[in-house]
Amino acid sequence: MTDITIIGTGNMARGIGTRAVAAGRTLEILGRDSAAAQALAAELGASVAFGSSADATPAGALVVLALPFDAAQEVVAAYGEALSGKVLIDITNPVDFTTFDSLVVAPGTSAAEEIAALAAPGASVVKAFNTAFAGTLVSGSVADAPLDIFIAGDDAEAKVAVASFVADAGLRPIDVGPLRRSRELEGFQFVIMTLQANPEFDTFNWNTGLKVLV
Ligand SMILES: NC(=O)c1ccc[n+]([C@@H]2O[C@H](COP(=O)([O-])OP(=O)(O)OC[C@H]3O[C@@H](n4cnc5c(N)ncnc54)[C@H](OP(=O)(O)O)[C@@H]3O)[C@@H](O)[C@H]2O)c1
Repeated sequence: MTDITIIGTGNMARGIGTRAVAAGRTLEILGRDSAAAQALAAELGASVAFGSSADATPAGALVVLALPFDAAQEVVAAYGEALSGKVLIDITNPVDFTTFDSLVVAPGTSAAEEIAALAAPGASVVKAFNTAFAGTLVSGSVADAPLDIFIAGDDAEAKVAVASFVADAGLRPIDVGPLRRSRELEGFQFVIMTLQANPEFDTFNWNTGLKVLV
């Protein structure tokens, strides 16, 4: 039995995959480049499975879309009913990288809601991990503090499943409410991303963490 499938073999796949192994979850990596999927699976652990193509049906109950927003839309639409019953974790930041001055989603919606609109009716989309940079997920902490992972979704059971994974991975899950809160999570992370690229903040280098302190 596989707990988690990660679709994608890039930086976030490595970060979330590292945390999934740390959480003791069984993990499968699917990628359109089978050699890359095999290499990442081997890097993460001998027992991590890999799929030979992104078309292979995900085995995990949780499916992490570790893909750019446009690819996540394509992949979810292409899978269709095969994702029914799955929890789809949308981690995307739909930034317009041609201008680095806005999001590509219209005001009043979010990448998570757009993906949910494309998903099979029996799939639940949960927004999570979009405010954590890939490099920080490998250790799971910044400045010795566990990362906060903000979780938004409309399916309470699905959010509990994601929060349980996050907590077991040594991170702090924070349920921020319904899926539409993804608008704010995506907008806020866009601001944080611009700071990484701002030379005025020379210690910010995609190595910061967004955390609620008490
Ligand atoms: N990097 C971060 O710190 C960070 C933080 C929070 C959220 N995010 C979000 O996480 C997502 C992934 O980011 P990343 O940094 O992991 O990106 P990445 O390192 O560029 O990896 C992207 C992955 O998506 C695959 N891919 C791209 N287009 C595809 C398509 N049309 N069909 C199938 N697979 C496709 C790539 O495959 P190939 O290698 O074959 O191209 C690669 O495996 C993005 O939505 C990003 O906004 C990133």
